[in-house]
Formats: sequence, structure tokens, C-alpha cells
Amino acid sequence: MLDTFVPTTLPDARRPRRTRRTEALRAFVRETSLEAGHLIHPLFIVEGTGISKPIETMPGHAQLSVDRLAAEVKEIRALGIRSVLLFGIPRHKDDEGTGAWDSDGPVPQAIAELKRLDPSLVVIADVCLCEYTAHGHCGVVRDDSGVVVNDETLPLLGAAAVCYARAGADIVAPSAMMDGQVAAIRTALDDADFLDTPILSYAAKHASAFYGPFRGAAESTPSFGDRRAYQMDPANAREALVEVQIDVDEGADLLMVKPAGSALDIIRQVRDRFPHPLVAYQVSGEYAMLKAAAERGWLDERRAALESLVAIRRAGADQVITYYAKEAARWLSTAG
Ligand code: PBG
Repeated sequence: MLDTFVPTTLPDARRPRRTRRTEALRAFVRETSLEAGHLIHPLFIVEGTGISKPIETMPGHAQLSVDRLAAEVKEIRALGIRSVLLFGIPRHKDDEGTGAWDSDGPVPQAIAELKRLDPSLVVIADVCLCEYTAHGHCGVVRDDSGVVVNDETLPLLGAAAVCYARAGADIVAPSAMMDGQVAAIRTALDDADFLDTPILSYAAKHASAFYGPFRGAAESTPSFGDRRAYQMDPANAREALVEVQIDVDEGADLLMVKPAGSALDIIRQVRDRFPHPLVAYQVSGEYAMLKAAAERGWLDERRAALESLVAIRRAGADQVITYYAKEAARWLSTAG
């Protein structure tokens, strides 16, 4: 049979496989880089000492008390990770989320400790009320209606941002999806003399089912209703551009799109339209899906996780917040 097989002659110019022949050639034509320096490592901080409480839905992650940060910083720095994103889990929650701007709270304490341990670590503080409110919503709730009220929430977000800037945060990152939150935080920071603290705005944030595991980790599941009256409909992309434009006009220094894997088109559109540094958040559910499939042996975890991260970079993100930061950094430093 073989000797009678007549191959179709391909024109010589149409052989893209030429550059895939060896790893050296593949590396030479690779368009997108993925390095430890592109990854932001999220941390969940609790009050108390000696605490490292594993988060069941997010294998490999734990709620940590401030005294456990030294070991963590040593580990991530050795891996080449430059930045962390902080969430706080307070012991006490109330209707206004007053713990969010308590200077003795877990986040300000963690910021101070991290900056003491390593001044060159880029410390980003998430600014939201949902971890601090008893009802778990991202803003103040009007008692009679259960509506999350926008404008009453703004000064509280401003107070939280100032509290974290005062503790030494390099960047504050509002994630509450209240209208006007960037302007309110900018004004609050400037009034308190933090003119140089940049704002990383969670500009386009979908009301996503993929935040499920995080809410367990941060103990921030809403006690009633959901977040669809303030977070965006996942069906919308043009609206994301409106949100981003507003945040840019209000003074956002850096932009974020979230989630990442289900919003690659939005990352790309924001990248093409806005010159600002762009961060994408590979959220807890994206991590949990990969972890669960890997645990069952259904996916090659290393390859699948690195592929998901390089895709987010390829879509246009400069930096990626990911629960895979440490593992990915480790994988990237070893061949295979
Ligand atoms: C809100 C906030 C959330 C996440 C980051 N900031 C949860 C939410 O909006 O319900 C989710 C991150 C993740 O799922 O990893 N403060």
C-alpha cells in the first residue's frame, strides 16, 4: 500500500509545523511569557496567633494568622512571586462592617507585618465590606427592603482604603462594585494625604458562580439574596467597557477583570482599549475545578493549570491573581 501512496504536494510556504519541531524552536516562537513575577498570591488573614486553618474548598490554602506570615513570605519570595492580595476574616461582624476600617484588624496588621518582613513585596489590600458585614453583602443594607445602598456605602469603603494605606499597603483594590467607589476612595485617600497610593479597581466583575469556594474561605456568603444587583451580568461584555471607562474617569490607576477564564474576551477588549496595567483574577471556582479534576486523575494538573494561566496572559493580562501562584511558580522553575 505504502509504495503506491502518492503524497499531496504541499506548497513549501504552508508548513507551520516547521517551527514546532523541537522545544528550542517552540520556545523561540512562543508569543506569551508566563513567569512567577506575573502571579499575585492571595492570602486570607484571621485574628489570633498560631493559626493555619486549611480551607476545605481550596486545597493548599489556609486562613493564616499574622504570625504565620514570615514563613509564607520566605516561601513566595524564594519562588519569585512579587505580590500578594490580602483578605481579612474578622472575629466580629456587624451590620456596617466596621471591622473593615479597624486599624487593629487582621488586614492592617498583616500589611504592617508583610512590609516589615519584606519592604519590596507589593502588598495589595482588597477593599470591600462583605467579609465584615453580618449579612455578608458588599455594602450597607437598607433594613426594610434588603437593598444594598450605594451612596451610604462609599464613605465606608473610603475609610477602609485609608486604613490600609495608613498601615502601608502599596495598592488598594476596591471590589464592592458600588458606583462611584473609585472616586470616593481617591478623595478619601487624597484627603488623608495618601496621594501616592494607587487604586487597582475591580472594574469589570461578574456576578459569578465561580466565587463559591472563596465565600467559604472568607466567610462572606450573603445571608439573603445574591450580588446580582451590584455585580455584572455574566452575559455582558459591552457593559464591562462602560464600567472600566467610568473607573478610569474616576481615577483608577490599574484595572482588573474578574473572573478571568470565563471573561477572556473582556480581558482582550480592555487590553486593546485602555493602556493601564491590567490584572485578571483567576477566581476560587476556576481553581477548585482544576483541583477537583486533577484529584480524580481526569486532568494533568500541571499542564492544565499552566495552560489556563498562559491563556489569561495571552488574552492581555499583565498580572494574574491566582490560587495556583505558588504551585505554578514551582512548576515554571522546573523543566517538564
Ligand atoms: C468581594 C470579593 C469576592 C472575591 C474577591 N473579592 C467575592 C464575591 O464577590 O462574592 C472572589 C474571589 C474568588 O472567588 O476567588 N469582596
